[in-house]
Amino acid sequence: MKFSTKLGLWFFICLLIIESVSMLVLHRHVVDSLVKEELDSLLARGNSHRDVLETSFTPETLQHIVLMESNTDTEVVIIDENGSVIDSSVQKRNLPHYIIQSAPLTREVVVQDDWKQEAFIATVSPFLSEDGSTGYVYMLKSTNSLQKVIQQLNHHFAIAVVIIMFFLLVTNIFLIKLLTKPLIRMKDATHKISNGDFSVKLPVKTKDELGELAESIQSLANHLNHLQKERKEFLASISHELRTPLTYIKGYADLGRKPNLAESARLEYLNIIHEESTRVSSMLEDLFEMAKMDQNTFSIQPQRMDIEKFIRPIYEKARPAFENAGIHLMFKPNQSFEVLIDPRRFEQIVLNVLDNALKYSSAGSTTTIQLNKIGNESSLSIKDEGKGIPEEEIPFILDRFYRVEKSRSRLTGGVGLGLAIVSELVEAHGATLSINSKQHVGTAVTIVWKEIEDDKNSTD
Ligand SMILES: Nc1ncnc2c1ncn2[C@@H]1O[C@H](COP(=O)(O)OP(=O)(O)OP(=O)(O)O)[C@@H](O)[C@H]1O
Ligand SMILES: [Mg+2]
Repeated sequence: MKFSTKLGLWFFICLLIIESVSMLVLHRHVVDSLVKEELDSLLARGNSHRDVLETSFTPETLQHIVLMESNTDTEVVIIDENGSVIDSSVQKRNLPHYIIQSAPLTREVVVQDDWKQEAFIATVSPFLSEDGSTGYVYMLKSTNSLQKVIQQLNHHFAIAVVIIMFFLLVTNIFLIKLLTKPLIRMKDATHKISNGDFSVKLPVKTKDELGELAESIQSLANHLNHLQKERKEFLASISHELRTPLTYIKGYADLGRKPNLAESARLEYLNIIHEESTRVSSMLEDLFEMAKMDQNTFSIQPQRMDIEKFIRPIYEKARPAFENAGIHLMFKPNQSFEVLIDPRRFEQIVLNVLDNALKYSSAGSTTTIQLNKIGNESSLSIKDEGKGIPEEEIPFILDRFYRVEKSRSRLTGGVGLGLAIVSELVEAHGATLSINSKQHVGTAVTIVWKEIEDDKNSTD
């Protein structure tokens, strides 16, 4: 059974029970008060006849009372203390049995209120006249008219019940639709997602639990979509990145194999082959590294080191490459400090960032490595005066294979893995990475350690 049907049915049954019970109670109450009103008015009439008889118990008065009642829909029976009828507006054979058998009474009471079974409802008022004679005034009212009134009342109630049921049903359908529509939409969306279609759009209209659920499903779909796209791009990039250098290697190997080739040309081809195969192997190394990071089998072995002493040899190693490109590489260890680093991994971080500064700056510019310590924040930043990164691209710069320049020429040739690896390594070191860049001005990559003092204390 569908959820909406089930929910609707339950809802309807509950409402039906509530409505039936309240209608029954209301009906009971109305009927009871109707009967009570009739009995009260009978009692009042009986009492007024009693008052008359108590002051004047004469045959004329009796006759008068009987005559009065025979003109209305009520009846009167007057009996003496022995139970014999003195006068009556009802024929004797029609008299109800309880009138003749009645027990001695001192005050007025209801003697019959069963309007369903009996022919009459009845009250009695005892009297004691001035001349000492006693008796009882019975007032009767035929239940026919009462039954008719109640029948009519039942009829009205039935109509009311039907109308209310109809409105309940309509509201019920409307409410269930309102409630289950977003659920059905979400079910369809998750179904789509499970079939690999992540292009679902769930409008989040409300701020309640359903809205939150829709939002979660939407963000799940977006995330999966992103992952799928990333995976596709990843595979496409890998194959592309491998194909390009392999084409070069194959091409130059073919050229180099030719006989009668000048030694200098052969050397040049071999150099290119060497360069390209280094590229492939470094890329495979990067990929392997990232695979390890993804599997969480990757760990760093941190040691406490003086950052200036650590950076200086790297700076010396990198400087010739910068000089070759006409870029001035500066090292400004303003304040040195100690940090916990894995030397091999951290060198990888610095070299990757320097490699970018070198690749994306032009001759005549300056790249600066700076060390700073302000309060409990220590930082290493590498600033270049290169072409910078467009502002809208900065959020994606740490993604794998992301490059601002989409064309993968041999000259501008990165793969787009450098910063992805840097970001994961920095995180593994418990530091934070920030990238500030302005197009045509330059880029600053900063690694910040916080609360070095605490680190120091905890390891000392
Ligand atoms: N210092 C920088 N100045 C200008 N653009 C930069 C700089 N650093 C990175 N970028 C941009 O960010 C992109 C991603 O950098 P990343 O280091 O991840 O990849 P890559 O340098 O292209 O390739 P790889 O480092 O894997 O050889 C680069 O392609 C480049 O467009
Ligand atoms: Mg790079």
